[in-house]
Amino acid sequence: MAQQFPEQQDIAQYDLAQILFEQQFKRSPELICHAPGRVNLLGDHTDYNDGFVLPAAINYGTTIAASAREDKLVKVYAHDCDQQTNEFNLNDISFDQQMMWSNYVKGTLQALMTTYPEIKGADFVVTGNVPQGAGLSSSASFEIAILKAFSQLYQLDLDGIKAALLGQQAENNFVGCNCGIMDQLISAMGQKNHAMLLDCKDLSFEDAPIPDDLVLFIVNSNVKRGLVDSEYNLRREQCEKVAEHFGVSALRDVTLEQLISAKEQLEPLLFKRAHHVITENSRAITTLKALKSNDMATISVAMKESHASLRDDFEVSTKEMDGLVAIIDNVLGADGGVRMTGGGFGGCVVALVPTAMVEQVKDAVNSRYEEEFSLKPRFYLCTATQGAFR
Ligand code: GLA
Repeated sequence: MAQQFPEQQDIAQYDLAQILFEQQFKRSPELICHAPGRVNLLGDHTDYNDGFVLPAAINYGTTIAASAREDKLVKVYAHDCDQQTNEFNLNDISFDQQMMWSNYVKGTLQALMTTYPEIKGADFVVTGNVPQGAGLSSSASFEIAILKAFSQLYQLDLDGIKAALLGQQAENNFVGCNCGIMDQLISAMGQKNHAMLLDCKDLSFEDAPIPDDLVLFIVNSNVKRGLVDSEYNLRREQCEKVAEHFGVSALRDVTLEQLISAKEQLEPLLFKRAHHVITENSRAITTLKALKSNDMATISVAMKESHASLRDDFEVSTKEMDGLVAIIDNVLGADGGVRMTGGGFGGCVVALVPTAMVEQVKDAVNSRYEEEFSLKPRFYLCTATQGAFR
């Protein structure tokens, strides 16, 4: 059986995928593969503006056990989507209104077939531990795991960048979310113990080590995310309008000085949206440099400003996420950083926490969050892991 070398913590998922495959298909899988979810340390809503992001792949992900078929059928068992099964023919792919998760499989394989029309079908089972709808990219890790499985089953010359673009294509053209490239790219190309500064304009990237004594501390606000796709697509349109005003293809090519001098000509709301994106790009670069020199005071300020900008200028935070950030910031001060992470409208906050302060942060959240917001927080203590194609 061809197999990646799993991280220690993924072994249980590999075993589970193997057992589930044997139960479903009455034989052993040809391969098992895995793609991680991600957390973004800085640079939100910048990727679709050709800007900079600073994500890390995390030790929560999606695992697939698969075998090739001789025909064009795809049979999938999704353990964590109510143990549902879906079956379709690669020559006849259509959107499924009922089984939404199956559209990630269909969209991804349709995108893959634009480059590799000759692929045949597969039997596979999927299981994962990225919380769904929490802003940690369960769907991107699903897409990248599917692409990894098919690239191994059919020996396709797919690399991480190509795979990321295909995953994004599935979201944009099939699922209906106009997302950027960040989530798929870091799931494919993350580097163990590193965050990645990705330039979304030309997809060049630089890895930055995460200091040994820091934990990627993620807290799920457990706010049910609403209107995510429509609000997300609206933010993107607003950014595009400002780029159009300046006659450039993306906000990446507008400087803060240019924006400020055009303030009177822009609708106030559009000004705020663009102000977030342009300042967020500089914060991502500043944070990369600060990570490299282990300058926590600078990281702390950049994360604080990023949260305020996402809250006030881009308006994608919630009162619960603001509350979590305030509770954690109060403990960490300049010794760590905290902000909301991902698309927003609910989901998670991310903190960079010195190992010695982890218990203090947990205690503070446990004693205040539920009392203030009547919601139970959930903690994920993460390390940065390797992407599926790295
Ligand atoms: C979602 C999208 C990404 C990115 C983030 C916000 O996760 O999938 O492309 O835009 O939101 O930074």
